[in-house]
Amino acid sequence: MSAIDPGIDSTARASHVERPIIEYTDAEVRFGALHAMGPVTLNVRPGEFLAIVGPSGCGKSTLLNLAAGSLAPASGYVRFQGRNISGPNSNVGYITQKNYCLPWRTVAGNVKLPLEYRRYSRARIKERTADVLKQVGLSGFENQAHQENEWVNLMGNAA
Ligand SMILES: Nc1ncnc2c1ncn2[C@@H]1O[C@H](COP(=O)(O)OP(=O)(O)O)[C@@H](O)[C@H]1O
Ligand SMILES: [Mg+2]
Repeated sequence: MSAIDPGIDSTARASHVERPIIEYTDAEVRFGALHAMGPVTLNVRPGEFLAIVGPSGCGKSTLLNLAAGSLAPASGYVRFQGRNISGPNSNVGYITQKNYCLPWRTVAGNVKLPLEYRRYSRARIKERTADVLKQVGLSGFENQAHQENEWVNLMGNAA
């Protein structure tokens, strides 16, 4: 395809311009005796849209968990903006397949959670939460228990 129109190959073009935002280099993951993933070498550049496709159990979630910093590679390395990921990587957003909202928290309480972990000020949390709920059409449902809210459940399940 690139022989016909080199402009189509955005990855190849970007590789000359920008450094990767996420780099996997010979990254392998093991759970005890189970070889779960890799070795994977993959560079993701800013603005790239990448789909990881494969059969169940091939290691897609494991690959994402490495970028999120919830797993560490058994060998090789994973870098974000040129630095080894050495713990939860709060610079990436990660939407899980299942709805992992906390059932004892309200709709707003669930939205606030990552902001609380990042120790944002109360005022900033309030403002950001209101913005986010407005964006998804949930203004007015802040204090509803998340389990009562069909729309929240639908969003969680769709993700
Ligand atoms: N926490 C875990 N403990 C043990 N084995 C795991 C764990 N997470 C994933 N695995 C195993 O690692 C392999 C890759 O899993 P996963 O990345 O979830 O695959 P996918 O997302 O492609 O379906 C599978 O064999 C899975 O059973
Ligand atoms: Mg998965």
